[in-house]
Amino acid sequence: MSVSSKRRVALITGASRGIGAAIAQRLASDGFHVVVHYAHGAAEARAVCTAIERAGGSAAPLQADLSLSDGPQNLADALREPHIDVLVNNAGIAPFESIEDMNEGSYDRLSNVNMRSVFFVTRYLLPRLRDGGRIVNLSSIVARTAFDGIPAYSATKGFVDVLTLQLAAALGPRGITVNAVAPGVIETRLTSGLLEGGGADAVQAMQALAGIGTPDRVAGVVSFLVGPDGGWTTGQVIDVSGGSKL
Ligand SMILES: NC(=O)c1ccc[n+]([C@@H]2O[C@H](COP(=O)([O-])OP(=O)(O)OC[C@H]3O[C@@H](n4cnc5c(N)ncnc54)[C@H](OP(=O)(O)O)[C@@H]3O)[C@@H](O)[C@H]2O)c1
Repeated sequence: MSVSSKRRVALITGASRGIGAAIAQRLASDGFHVVVHYAHGAAEARAVCTAIERAGGSAAPLQADLSLSDGPQNLADALREPHIDVLVNNAGIAPFESIEDMNEGSYDRLSNVNMRSVFFVTRYLLPRLRDGGRIVNLSSIVARTAFDGIPAYSATKGFVDVLTLQLAAALGPRGITVNAVAPGVIETRLTSGLLEGGGADAVQAMQALAGIGTPDRVAGVVSFLVGPDGGWTTGQVIDVSGGSKL
């Protein structure tokens, strides 16, 4: 067997920053060659790859805009690896828009990035995902508890949870596990507005544990799910929220 065919490969969508970047760095330190997908942040994705390589790991960037209808196919076409072992569907956007504020263009973009791409990236990469491989999808606690001002975003995470359950059953015969992680509020660009002013205090007030969640908290749980100890867990949504709204 050649060295390259033994190399374990993880593709993380939306890995140019935030939670995806932390997952890429953690899985690289776990020994995976990581494919750092991005849409607009070419320099940020390159910086993630450089940091991984400086730490002794292996990484390559991959561009595809998943808000476009051909984004998932473009991603699959651009992926040079013939096989992958892990797919993390992390890319997501979160327009803070009430039902009264949201227009159809914003809804369609949200729907493409948060739902359509999760389905079709998985669909197009399934033939290249090795038997025994792992899929992890990014959900959110907003799929189980009501938050003001983000009804459409929250519903996209309900889609992720249901797809996770259905695919876990469908892919079990191939030994592939499919799980979701459901963060609470994690400090990233996506939540920067929310955490301003008294926002951080309000977030801590809803948590059992003190502090604000960081991307590496989520990355640690993903590392477990795709690692040797996670192989008997499938179809689950794992809360990573410091016990928010228990
Ligand atoms: N932060 C939280 O509190 C929180 C809580 C629960 C769940 N989540 C979920 O965790 C995931 C990551 O969130 P985050 O907080 O890390 O967000 P973030 O810091 O805003 O990063 C989002 C990532 O998604 C990529 N992305 C955005 N638009 C894209 C598009 N059109 N096509 C392809 N990729 C695109 C971005 O890449 P470019 O910059 O290159 O476009 C970036 O790498 C999301 O699914 C989010 O819903 C986050």
